Amino acid sequence: MPRVFSGVKPSGDFHLGNYIGAFRQWVAHQEDHDALYCVVDLHALTEEIDPEYLRRKTFEAALNLLAVGLDPAVCTIFVQSHVPEHPRLTWLLECSASMGELRRMTQFKAKGSGQEAVRVGLFTYPVLMAADILLYDTDLVPVGEDQRQHLELARELAQRFNHRYGATFSVPQAATPGVGARVMDLQHPERKMSKSVDSPLGTVDVLDDPADIARKVKKAVTDTDAQMRYDPGAKPGLANLLELMAVVTGKGPDEVASGYTRYGDLKADLADGLVELLRPVRERHRTLSAEPESVHEVLRTGAARAHEIASATYARAARAMGLLA
Ligand code: TYM
Repeated sequence: MPRVFSGVKPSGDFHLGNYIGAFRQWVAHQEDHDALYCVVDLHALTEEIDPEYLRRKTFEAALNLLAVGLDPAVCTIFVQSHVPEHPRLTWLLECSASMGELRRMTQFKAKGSGQEAVRVGLFTYPVLMAADILLYDTDLVPVGEDQRQHLELARELAQRFNHRYGATFSVPQAATPGVGARVMDLQHPERKMSKSVDSPLGTVDVLDDPADIARKVKKAVTDTDAQMRYDPGAKPGLANLLELMAVVTGKGPDEVASGYTRYGDLKADLADGLVELLRPVRERHRTLSAEPESVHEVLRTGAARAHEIASATYARAARAMGLLA
């Protein structure tokens, strides 16, 4: 079976962007792929984060991955720091990556450029991400649009390593959804919905209750010309709502637009659609919260399986580079 790998940072609550851009694909792939999904706690250390908060969010992230519909009977769910080969392979890959190519990463430029105190880990973050992927001989990486450039780097590093040291890594492909690969903030439709930006009204969390979802959608920023058409450049707020409605209904955004004349009607239907989309997540979350030990068990089993694969790949890479066995 082809292998799928993807990861999520436990640095906050999961939102609609994570769900639509990534998790829905993760769930779809678990049936017909050998799928590994990782809570990337080491990545969360690249920015200021309280230790107790990180520990709690890492556990909650695992619980939420089960709540969105991942089934530990068919896929592997684990925590990145439980598998020591992730930082070990990162070092090997850092010795092939260049400062120039890391400096070009737009996410680093957005978060770290110009700051004197920027952490080295924030700069080398994409190499850790490449290690995550390459350790598992990954074929496919389901991600949102914002991770595409990092994926390109992982491909480049794999190819460079294979060229220098002999065939060692599979070269992965990114898989982004056709619609919903970049869900925008409902209040600031020019920027993506994000865990790290404080925008409570603009961010729909996957565990929001129905009243909150309805309130946020109702207050979503649109525009004043009131013309119903899909035009992300000129009408980003409306385009975001049309895309979300497209995800909910399975139609295209243009087709959705042709079914409405008033923004208010679109918003009302979208709120209902999102409440239904996320209902099973809320329900599973309620059940799982009562059985935390089962989540720990999933993570123990997951780490053991991940470690088995990762240690073989790491050994192959170390040998190829000339490290004494
Ligand atoms: P993270 O934790 O920011 O996001 C997890 C996944 O959600 C997607 N996503 C979005 N999709 C659509 N619209 C949005 N507004 C939106 N916000 C987030 C992301 O694209 C991602 O797929 N560096 C990664 C984590 C990572 C990883 C990996 C991913 C570490 N190692 C290896 C894949 C493979 C990140 O910070 O994702």
